[in-house]
Amino acid sequence: MPEPQSTTPDPVIVVRDATATLGARPVLRGIDLTVRRGEVVALLGANGSGKSTAVRSVIGQVPLSGGTVELFGTPLRRFRDWARVGYVPQRTTAAGGVPATIREVVASGRLSRTRLGLPRKADRAAVDRAIELVGLADRAKDSVGALSGGQHQRVLIARALAAEPELLIMDEPMAGVDLASQEILAATLREQVAAGATVLLVLHELGPLEPLIDRAVVLRDGCVMHDGPPPKAVGQHALPGHDHVHPHAASEPVRTGLLS
Ligand SMILES: Nc1ncnc2c1ncn2[C@@H]1O[C@H](COP(=O)(O)OP(=O)(O)OP(=O)(O)O)[C@@H](O)[C@H]1O
Ligand SMILES: [Mg+2]
Repeated sequence: MPEPQSTTPDPVIVVRDATATLGARPVLRGIDLTVRRGEVVALLGANGSGKSTAVRSVIGQVPLSGGTVELFGTPLRRFRDWARVGYVPQRTTAAGGVPATIREVVASGRLSRTRLGLPRKADRAAVDRAIELVGLADRAKDSVGALSGGQHQRVLIARALAAEPELLIMDEPMAGVDLASQEILAATLREQVAAGATVLLVLHELGPLEPLIDRAVVLRDGCVMHDGPPPKAVGQHALPGHDHVHPHAASEPVRTGLLS
């Protein structure tokens, strides 16, 4: 399908033929993934299909055994502009060590912008705004140790937002979050996207984020099984082959293909 060159936004993430082995196990087996400026892309697939490994390889936390990653047009090994990237890791059940306050944790997300000195007014304002966006302003001084799982997840998201990143990468931000909090996060994300953010997020279900998703990439056993409109009903058993044409995909070039 020919793409009109002049209107296609620049790619923010380009992953080409990425392979990764963890332990002795091939976890990524040649995945391709492009996310363009302003796109919201959902990475879907069953447990163990390689979603977290894929997003962690994008931010350099998992070394590739083959293939390449570029961020904002720069090969990953030369990329230094981490203030442009916000990352929300997949929540683990293990509790953290030293309890910090919500504000401290969120402010840590701003470090990439404040390392040359003390936090400035703009830094403090960005931290306050991020906490407010996720609906925790009244609890900013509370210890994160006293939070529920879903509240903790909102703190991690606020931490990523505090840096005002151009690219947000989130690994299952909705996991363990109740519907009311999911709606808050969806509204937060909608605001980021409206302000021009590019988003790659791992999801098990599209849920309240469904209207925001431009494209879905489905992994299976470390391979891309689908890259195109989001499947209509996506759950634990996300499968390619749905012919549903997603209304939000209308203006985007859609690539659909099996790489295995
Ligand atoms: N550090 C590691 N050492 C060895 N194997 C690993 C490691 N991390 C992940 N794996 C394996 O790699 C595969 C993919 O894991 P990954 O966490 O990327 O899957 P996922 O799609 O994110 O799954 P989930 O939906 O459960 O989060 C799994 O089989 C997992 O056991
Ligand atoms: Mg995962």
